[in-house]
Amino acid sequence: MSERQIDQQANFHLVDTKKPEIQNVLFEIDKQTFRSADWFEKPSEYAEYSDVHLIFVGHRIAGSMAFEHDIDIERKANGTLGDDYVRTTGTLYIVNTAILPEFQRKGIGKKAKEWQIAHAKEQGFTRIVTYPRKSNAAIVGLNRKFGFEIVMEIPAGEWYDEEPALCMELDLAK
Ligand SMILES: CC(C)(COP(=O)(O)OP(=O)(O)OC[C@H]1O[C@@H](n2cnc3c(N)ncnc32)[C@H](O)[C@@H]1OP(=O)(O)O)[C@@H](O)C(=O)NCCC(=O)NCCS
Repeated sequence: MSERQIDQQANFHLVDTKKPEIQNVLFEIDKQTFRSADWFEKPSEYAEYSDVHLIFVGHRIAGSMAFEHDIDIERKANGTLGDDYVRTTGTLYIVNTAILPEFQRKGIGKKAKEWQIAHAKEQGFTRIVTYPRKSNAAIVGLNRKFGFEIVMEIPAGEWYDEEPALCMELDLAK
């Protein structure tokens, strides 16, 4: 199947994160896509998130993505992050976007990003925010392609222990 055919088959389904079998699927995807430092401690942590979607290519699971509504990380005046999340009306926070290794670099990430932006607009959000690792060229490049801007660099030790994070935002009101 060509890249074009694969990305055309990508589709997105909201899942019920209260179900243990769904939590296990999401946890398994995380284990296959992220380094262990970025895994949740246990599958049941997914129950705290209500806007979570599985990505399918045809009938095969190709990845997942999770969002939180009206939330951001507290930003201090001195340009560092606080320890808490703060209620930020109008902001869609991308918790993660995970494409399984065998499906990567086939255009599904681009399809997912398009979908995320449409999802945010449909629900009336005015801003999308996400905090990738600075070294994650794939997601930083993908976000940039869709107009996300780097608004802040967060020093190592604050968000990720070993390396800086970038705060990337897309202003949907522009
Ligand atoms: C980041 C990720 C979502 C991208 O999804 P993907 O389906 O592989 O991406 P696509 O094939 O749609 O590529 C889209 C663009 O992303 C960028 N990109 C993707 N993989 C890349 C890589 N390995 N290196 C540099 N840029 C890359 C490119 O800009 C690419 O556009 P191009 O093909 O025109 O060069 C995927 O690689 C992934 O899930 N990685 C592991 C988990 C992760 O790090 N998630 C993000 C943090 S939550």
